[in-house]
Formats: sequence, C-alpha cells, structure tokens
Amino acid sequence: MEPVESEPVRVDAGGWGLTWAADRDGRLRQIGTGPAGATADAVLPRSLYPEAFPTFGSGDALRPAPLAVTHADGTLTTRLVVASVDRSATPAGDGEHVVVTCRDEMTALTVEHHLRTHPASGVLEQWVEIVHDEPGPVRLEAYDSIAPMLLVTGGATLDQFGGSGWADEWRWTSEPLTPGTKELASLGGVQPHLQRSPCALVAPSGPADETGGEVVGLAVAWGGNVHFAFDIRPKPDLGDAAELRIRAGANPLSAPYVLDPGVRFVTPTVAWTWATAGRDEVTHRFHDWTRARVLRDPDRTRGIVANNWEATFFDFDEARVVDLIGRAADLGADVFLLDDGWFGVEHPRDDDTTSLGDWDPDPRKLPGGLAPLAEAARAAGIRFGIWVEPEMVNPVSTLFAGHPDWVVRDGREPRLHRNQLVLDPLRPEVRAFEVEVVDRTLAGAPGTSYVKWDANRPVTDPGSRALPADRQANLWVDQVHATWAVMAEVAGRHPDVDLMLCASGGGRTDHGTLRWFHEVWTSDNTDPVDRVRMQWACSHFFPASVMAAHVTRWGDRPLAFACAVALSGRFGFDLDLAGLTGDEVAICRRAVALARRTQPVVQRGVVRRLVSPVAGADRSRAAWAVSGVDDDGRDLTVLFTYQLDDPRPGGASPVLRLGWLDPGRTYEVVAHDLAADEPTAEAAVEPSVRVVSGSALAADGLAWPLSAPLTAIVHEIRPT
Ligand code: GLA
Repeated sequence: MEPVESEPVRVDAGGWGLTWAADRDGRLRQIGTGPAGATADAVLPRSLYPEAFPTFGSGDALRPAPLAVTHADGTLTTRLVVASVDRSATPAGDGEHVVVTCRDEMTALTVEHHLRTHPASGVLEQWVEIVHDEPGPVRLEAYDSIAPMLLVTGGATLDQFGGSGWADEWRWTSEPLTPGTKELASLGGVQPHLQRSPCALVAPSGPADETGGEVVGLAVAWGGNVHFAFDIRPKPDLGDAAELRIRAGANPLSAPYVLDPGVRFVTPTVAWTWATAGRDEVTHRFHDWTRARVLRDPDRTRGIVANNWEATFFDFDEARVVDLIGRAADLGADVFLLDDGWFGVEHPRDDDTTSLGDWDPDPRKLPGGLAPLAEAARAAGIRFGIWVEPEMVNPVSTLFAGHPDWVVRDGREPRLHRNQLVLDPLRPEVRAFEVEVVDRTLAGAPGTSYVKWDANRPVTDPGSRALPADRQANLWVDQVHATWAVMAEVAGRHPDVDLMLCASGGGRTDHGTLRWFHEVWTSDNTDPVDRVRMQWACSHFFPASVMAAHVTRWGDRPLAFACAVALSGRFGFDLDLAGLTGDEVAICRRAVALARRTQPVVQRGVVRRLVSPVAGADRSRAAWAVSGVDDDGRDLTVLFTYQLDDPRPGGASPVLRLGWLDPGRTYEVVAHDLAADEPTAEAAVEPSVRVVSGSALAADGLAWPLSAPLTAIVHEIRPT
C-alpha cells in the first residue's frame, strides 16, 4: 500500500507538464516530464522512477546532486521525504502555484519546491525555498532550482550561448550531448551574462529546427552567476537512449551559502518549457510569458532612441548636445539619450578613469546642468534620457575620498577593472545612495523620462564588510537580491521613466532583473553582421521590444544594411547625426518611416524564422538570414531578408515560403531596399509592389531578392 499522502502531484504547464509522486519511503519521484508528463501514471513501483530532485546522500552517489547541505552538526548528507503538497497559493485565473514541501529525515531542514504555471504561454516557473531550524547555521554547497530527468536519444543536442565576453554576447553553439557532465557557468556577479547567456535549448529527441522537433527551452531568471549542468548517462538496455539530468540555477562555484536558522533561502526562478513544434514554439512561449509575467508596460511600443555614445564618447558640451537633440528630433527619434561623461565637478569625467560616484553635472561641459538639455528636448518635441552607473565608483572621485570603505573587497587591495570598483550593495547606506543617484539626476533634469542603467565591471575580489568572516561567499547571492531591491525601489519611485538595462552591453540579460526594466542594451557590438546572429539567438527568449538595436558605424557596413538590421529589434540610432551625408540622412529617414509602421508589430508580434544565420556546419559564416514577424495574421507581416555573405559555390538561394498567411486571402507585398528611394527593390528580381495570394506565398513563396553581401530587403505584407 502506498501512503495516502503520496497522491501524484500533477502539474499541467500548458501543452506539457510533469507528474511527481512520493514512493513508499516518502521520497519524491519523477513519474513523467514532457508533452504527456502531466498525465503520466506509474506502471512500475514508484521507487524505480528517478528522484525528482536528488540531494547529496539521497541515493545516487555517483552523480552531482542539485542540493548539497552541510548541516549544523557537520552531517554532509540530506535525505528528504515529502511532508505536504499545497495548491492554496494558486492565484485566481492565472495558472497554478504548487508547493511540494519536503523535510529531512534527521535534521530540521525543510525544502519547498515551488512550481508556478502560466498555461497561456506554456512556460513553467520553478524554484526552491530552503529554511531550517537546526541548532546553528547550515552551509548550502549546491542549490539548484530544477533537476528534471529526461530520457533522450543518442542524437540529443544542446544549443548554448557563450562567447568570449564583451561584445560577443549570444554566440550560438550547437553540440551533441555526450556521456559525462557538461557544465556551463557564468562568473563575475555583476555582469555575468556578458560571457554566457543564462538561457539554453535542448533537443531531447535529436536535432530540431525552427518549426519542427522537440525543444526544451530553459532560462535562469537570475542577475548573478548562473549554471547549467547536463549529465548524460548511457542506457544500454534501451538502445541508444540515455538519461539526461538537467540541473540549473545559481552557480554555487566558490559560493557556498551560510544560512542561519529561520532565514529563508530562495533560489532563482528557472523558467522552462517543452515544445514539440521546434524553436519557434519555444520563442512564442517565452515571448508570451515575458510579456505576461516579466516585462514592464508590455503593451506599449518602445520609442526610437537616439544615443550619443558612439557619436561623441566623452567629448561634448551643451551646444553639441543641443545640436544633436535638434537633429535627433528632426530625424524622427522619440528619445534623445545622453550617455556617459556628463558628470564630475571636482574630477570631470573626460574618460573612464575618474568621477563615477560624483553625479553632479560637469560645469565645464554643462554650465546649466542637465535641465537645459531636457528643456531643449521638450522644445524639440522629443523625450530626454540620461545614462547612470549607480553601482560603481572610481577611486578618483569625491565619493571614494569620503567613503573608501563602501566598496566590494576582501582583505587585499581591491583590483581595478575599467579603472573602477563596485559599491557594496549589502550596506544600507550604499543602497540608499544608489537610489538617490537616480532621484537626484532626474530632479536635476525635469521631464526626463528615460534612464540607461549601466554596470561596467565584474566582481573580482568578493567580500563585504557587511558580512561576518564565515560567510563572505554569501555575497554572490546577497548582492543580487540587494541590487534588485535598489532597482525595485527606483522603478517604484519613477513609474513613468523607461529604464534600459545595460552592463557593458548585454551583461544583465536575464528575466529576473528585467522585471524592473523596459529593455536591454543587447550588446556593445553593433556590427550589423554580428547583430543579425546575436538578435537571432536573443530573440528565442526575449521579444524584440526588449532588444535595443541601434544603427552605428561599427564594422563600417552600408548604412542601409545597418538600418535594416536595427529595424528587427527596438530601433534606434547611435550615430554622429551632425556628420551624416545627405544620402545617409535620406536612408535614416526612410528607416524611421518604416520603423513607424513596423515597430508595433516587430516589438509585440509573433516571430517566424525562415532562414537561420546560425544553421549549417559553420555557424559563423551562414550567408543568409530571414525572419518574419506578424500580428497573428491580422494586418501586417514584416519580413527581414539579409544577405550576410557570398553564398557557398553551387548553393541554391533560399525561397521564402510564408506558410502562416491565410491561403484564402490576397496580400500586397511591398519590398523596401533602404539604399534606394522607396518603395523599390532589385527590380530585375522582383517588382517592388505586387499582389499575391496567400496560397501562392505559402506554396511558391517569394524568390530570393538579393544578390550581394551586406544588402537587405524589408517586406511589408498586408492583406488586400
Ligand atoms: C558601456 C555601455 C556603453 C556605454 C559605455 C559608457 O560600455 O555598454 O553602451 O554606455 O559603457 O561608458
């Protein structure tokens, strides 16, 4: 007889799910996970099913455990039994919140598994909460959020997004999952996602593509160090199948957490989904969930931003900025964003060696402060935005002179990175200061409604004087929560200010931190060829409204091509608008006109990927990329067609079959080549405007419209 309390726990995540159940000994087993996971029944004794969340000491001593605890009395093992299942936290009409509470057999440690569904999207949020009443502190050595076991085929693959660091975000690598443990982790605490996105894709039954195959999408919603582990163990009795244990959560490397009795430790949320219709389905689910549960003001189209960073760097004064504001307004931008270099009285900020921490305008550059700039923007009919980096300090600053003890450091002299140090957010006075940086900056420039929040160095010497000696490593977790508290306070105090999240580029691109922001600076790398690939990868997890994409000179690519690439994200400029030629101004104007019509759909529509820039054997050199976005078949499909390179000799160019259109309707197809007067296209290849039936667009498709590298066509397709 199974005990009564072991009624299976079924979680329907919307199109997939999982079933857990306690076995005879009360241990939590995973009976099913995947498309039919929520309805799985145990056909064997439950004790033969994998543990739902192994602990060190619970059973499998030969595989790393997602939870490992050194108890107060020095015991290293943890053996949990199910104590209760609670669905009472379920919010009305918005999915379920299931809490499975387990207790250690011997010690006073409680582990809660939290599973929160969002059936409308099919994304499951899962995390763990740990609390104890042991006679002294315990040490959490490993503290993952999820640990599902998947039965995979020998062809199972992993797609991961780790690069070399700055300017190399979202580098796509596909690889087979082979026996052993594949560990992917980020470090550095403050901008960990520069080296590695906290997102991954697994194809458990062999390679999938955009529209077909099983794909598990995973995102760790954590603004700190993240890790994924993919443990593969062959299963010879089942042919080429293998067991894959996925562990994901905060990276515990060098970060054991000392937890006092009565204090609740909450792991990051892992958002995950299991699609059966390829990577586009993962995309749609993450976009819907991000809009529903993460993003601020999800239904508001983000404006066109003109930034001055790559135009001026630190070299500007009031006259130059006012001139740029006028040009930005004239071009049709909605927001002018003044970047780094506007502050510092005692130590003016003319480069990155001084002044962080001294958030008063530099009187030499801006004698009237920021107010005249905000006023110039208002007079020109656009919004004003400002850059801040509240978490950092240069040793050459008035702030540091007064508060040398405010920084993250251990007993050694702290090392500089970009000539700066990280302020210690565990100190309440530092958190208050950081909130005040934004308050004061906004107060000095009335009407400012956009802030770029940057963070330009990692933690290299972890330590906090706010923590006792035996728990210095708690910093890795506590600094994320402390920084989130500051961000939440800022967002709460300034609800009408749009916030861009930046950390040397996309160093903080995660769904946890994004809760207080409107968008992310995707990367400092704005070379449009690289950006096609980065935005392709990033858009699997984040909608285009989040992916700031500015036209710059990076890579010295044709401006029309750069505009066409930026139009597939949240469109903007980072160009010296005073240095544009007449032809370039015309290209930018055409891009702005196109942005006005297309950005609402691009930012909030349904993504359809046709030709991948990261497909094939050599993922860095694909010649083409095509993606569409549409408003779910109502009025507009926007199709972005990029030629990145010369095709391989003999390779056929892709045909663009638009299978999602209504076959019973006709469509007007307008092709825009921003390099030419619009609307036009390579007329010899394709007329610029034509009317085609939906069935023909699906069956015959559009012919490949380009012939040269670094060219692009943006199609607008509307039902007639
Ligand atoms: C970081 C950001 C850039 C810019 C500079 C300013 O590198 O990613 O966009 O704001 O800082 O110093």
